[in-house]
Amino acid sequence: MTSQTTAGGPRHFLDLDRFDSQTLRQLVDLGKAYKAGRTINRPLAGKLLAMIFEKPSTRTRVSFEAGMKQLGGDVIVLTRGDTQLGRGETVADTARVLSRFVDAIMIRTDSPAKLDDLVSYATVPVINGLTDESHPCQVMADVMTYEEHRGSLAGKVVAWIGDGNNVAASWIHASAHFGATIRLACPDSLMPADKAVSWARERGGRVDLMTDPAQAAAGADLIVTDTWLSMGCRDDDRSKILAPYQVNEALMDRAAPDALFMHCLPAHRGEEVTDAVMDGPRSVVWDEAENRMHVQKAILTWCLA
Ligand code: CP
Ligand code: NVA
Repeated sequence: MTSQTTAGGPRHFLDLDRFDSQTLRQLVDLGKAYKAGRTINRPLAGKLLAMIFEKPSTRTRVSFEAGMKQLGGDVIVLTRGDTQLGRGETVADTARVLSRFVDAIMIRTDSPAKLDDLVSYATVPVINGLTDESHPCQVMADVMTYEEHRGSLAGKVVAWIGDGNNVAASWIHASAHFGATIRLACPDSLMPADKAVSWARERGGRVDLMTDPAQAAAGADLIVTDTWLSMGCRDDDRSKILAPYQVNEALMDRAAPDALFMHCLPAHRGEEVTDAVMDGPRSVVWDEAENRMHVQKAILTWCLA
């Protein structure tokens, strides 16, 4: 993976393991300032963001578009069927062309290699709007949301329950940056990527892998889950393997008394999470969704400053 800033080149927002903790701290703080309305008006007036979606989206698309417009800029949304990418034009050539028209490019795609190609050939900042391996914008919003409700993550225990997927990998990165312990309870076949776990451990982060959701949830300060079937996954009996990993009130009751519940959404109610938890007093999922926009305004400003 290319680093977020090439020497003298554009500032990219890629995976969280490419950042120093201080920059991420500043981005979360700027997201909070935007939410509080404490920032200059329209700092991105005249700027244009292209958003390439090779997978569906509600929150990422709308939060980037709303955020960009609130900052004075504008967006062009390109879905798979709209562009020549769908007919085999390379990401590299697309990157070269888009860079002549827009000031930044956000991409949601399957393969991290496509993100790398975009970064290698674009001459403008690139933002990772989700790949099969990570979802950094989401987890920046999650960190902001936890801090708004409960203060610093330092010394806290985050319990990830279910599929050790792209969002889990970004949470592993974030836990190491923000000083939390992360416990991941996943079936053996759906453990998180070794790369993320090793990176976090090498920099002193505490990552505990287990298969028992009750063990992960015990005394935890935050319970996080996600769909059992991420976009692009094959449904090879996942719901059977993951059935014991549902986040329900019994599991939440094992966590700390003031524990929060998060889910990046979209949720599949009755599968990975029950209605009672989604709609219950410990759930902060709507703040989490809203904070996508605030923290992405910070990311956009940082990339385009
Ligand atoms: N959480 C998230 O990225 O949602 P969308 O897939 O709707 O963008
Ligand atoms: N893990 C999910 C996240 C959706 C925002 C997916 O990749 O489909």
